[in-house]
Amino acid sequence: MDFQGTDDGQESDTATAKPAVTIFVCASCRASEGSTEEPRQGTHLLNATMEAAAQQAPDVTIKSVNCLSNCKRGPSAVIARQDGWTYVFGHLALENAGDLVTGAELIATSADGLMPWKGRPDCLKRNMIARIPPFDFN
Ligand code: FES
Repeated sequence: MDFQGTDDGQESDTATAKPAVTIFVCASCRASEGSTEEPRQGTHLLNATMEAAAQQAPDVTIKSVNCLSNCKRGPSAVIARQDGWTYVFGHLALENAGDLVTGAELIATSADGLMPWKGRPDCLKRNMIARIPPFDFN
């Protein structure tokens, strides 16, 4: 989602624009270490997150990735705001798909590019692995 301009070249209303937020879901994560289940649990989480976003926040982008180097704490996902912070989560369950979308909406509407603690789903509090500052952080 790009709210900085429109297809006809005119600037959009930046007062109502939300920054781009993407949820990256690891489709390769297994349900547990050594599991041979196919499709993998990460693929199920990816599909559930896409369904949740379609209902809750169609402007949030969902992307599939293969391995976020968080395998032992998977299923894993990342919520990244283009001009803000990036959050890595682990130990996610299928029922957390909507929570990921809620987290994406929270960070999209925050004034400082951080995901606010208030209103954040519990799984995004307990299962946060890391947060990464924006590229231009001072
Ligand atoms: S396979 Fe999902 S984090 Fe490595």
